[in-house]
Amino acid sequence: MKRLLMMMAFVLMGMSAMAQDVIPLPTPDKNVEMSLFTALQRRRSVREYASRPIDLPTLSRVLWAACGISQPESGKITAASAMNRQDIQVYVCGEKGAYLFHPATNELTKVCGKDLRASLAGSQKGVATAPCFLLLVSDQAKFGGRGQGETFGAMDAGYVSQNIYLACTSLGLGTVARYGMDRDTLKRELGLADTQVMELNHPVGWTK
Ligand SMILES: Cc1cc2nc3c(=O)[nH]c(=O)nc-3n(C[C@H](O)[C@H](O)[C@H](O)COP(=O)(O)O)c2cc1C
Repeated sequence: MKRLLMMMAFVLMGMSAMAQDVIPLPTPDKNVEMSLFTALQRRRSVREYASRPIDLPTLSRVLWAACGISQPESGKITAASAMNRQDIQVYVCGEKGAYLFHPATNELTKVCGKDLRASLAGSQKGVATAPCFLLLVSDQAKFGGRGQGETFGAMDAGYVSQNIYLACTSLGLGTVARYGMDRDTLKRELGLADTQVMELNHPVGWTK
């Protein structure tokens, strides 16, 4: 009963927090029971999700695994990154709006008040009901106009994507890496610069 009440409190916190402009994320709990090899064995693309919202502590764990700071002394992150440019930015998009994840401060800042999930799902309408989407954007400005920036951005997104897959698997969440999305609408609504390339998105939800 106590556990149930605590879980409800987290969910309510998560829902009301998602209306704020700056959301401090709880320190991610890095203790996970599932071993890395079990997560690798079980990882699958999941395209159907329960409607239950994702609480902030769980979201914080997934975001840390995606590209959070793993070594504060050097500022390095959980994902390998070409020339350590750390170009991948993660936008968290849900019913209450879209937020940018800041690994250094472990917080979300609001960039749009609209529900962009249908635009993220694009023609694959079945995934639009996921409680949240993580959009991986490569900030090409980090490569200073180098010719390989485009390739590095796509590769760097792949590392972050696999981290998201493995974190979701180990936490009982389902996800799928997706290329398809309505890029014109998303660019406009998120106010992305021409140098910000939308690489992949991940609908994330509890497995049914
Ligand atoms: C770069 C990339 C793009 C993908 N795009 C989509 C997509 O748009 N829609 C989709 O349903 N799955 C997409 N997938 C998921 C693949 O279909 C999936 O990984 C593949 O079928 C193998 O299944 P598994 O992930 O369960 O092993 C994509 C995967 C990758 C790596």
